[in-house]
Amino acid sequence: MKGKFITFEGIDGAGKSSHVEWLAESLRARGLVVQVTREPGGTELGEKLRTLLLNEPMHLETETLLMFAARREHLARLIEPALARGEWVVCDRFSDATYAYQGGGRGLDRAKFLTLERWVHEHLQPDLTLLFDLPLDIARERIAVASRVLDRFEQERADFHERVRQAYLERAHANPQRIRVVDANKTLESIRKTLEQIVITNCL
Ligand code: TYD
Repeated sequence: MKGKFITFEGIDGAGKSSHVEWLAESLRARGLVVQVTREPGGTELGEKLRTLLLNEPMHLETETLLMFAARREHLARLIEPALARGEWVVCDRFSDATYAYQGGGRGLDRAKFLTLERWVHEHLQPDLTLLFDLPLDIARERIAVASRVLDRFEQERADFHERVRQAYLERAHANPQRIRVVDANKTLESIRKTLEQIVITNCL
């Protein structure tokens, strides 16, 4: 039996990353084998591309192609083999992030996004995507409190992040079966309860 592919999405500061490992652990407690991974990254080459993507200024289409190049490698080496073995894959970001950041945030032509998406994973979409949504000012506050060096995307202005948020919501609206919007402006406990409920109803 093929495993399930679950992705986490949201604007920077939405707090999704703290829930990724928790979800994986709660699935493991049910006896499932779970791979936790992230994009851009997830393979040796993908992590090198991540360092470039997060730090080096580059043309929008270069950025998009590198995101999909890292994704191709990730699918071939980690995601597809794990799913074929019946394992579950929980991934921090996937193609919806390219749709939202390069498409919504930076204005990449949608037809180019669709071409690359079809090329790289025509027959595979996540079984479930958890979209962490919250107002921009709260997300920005969370990033400011973290007081670490900001990457190229986190350094973008508020209007960029607002476009990213809207593109995510638009994508969720167009794919209501796959993408579930989670109100990230709630307590950790309440978010975990929601996640558990969504995963149980949709994947188990
Ligand atoms: P992120 O997942 O937020 O990691 P961290 O929690 O360590 O900051 O960082 C990855 C950044 O890459 C994030 O700002 C969104 C961006 N990104 C894109 O712009 N397009 C993509 O396709 C992906 C996967 C990520």
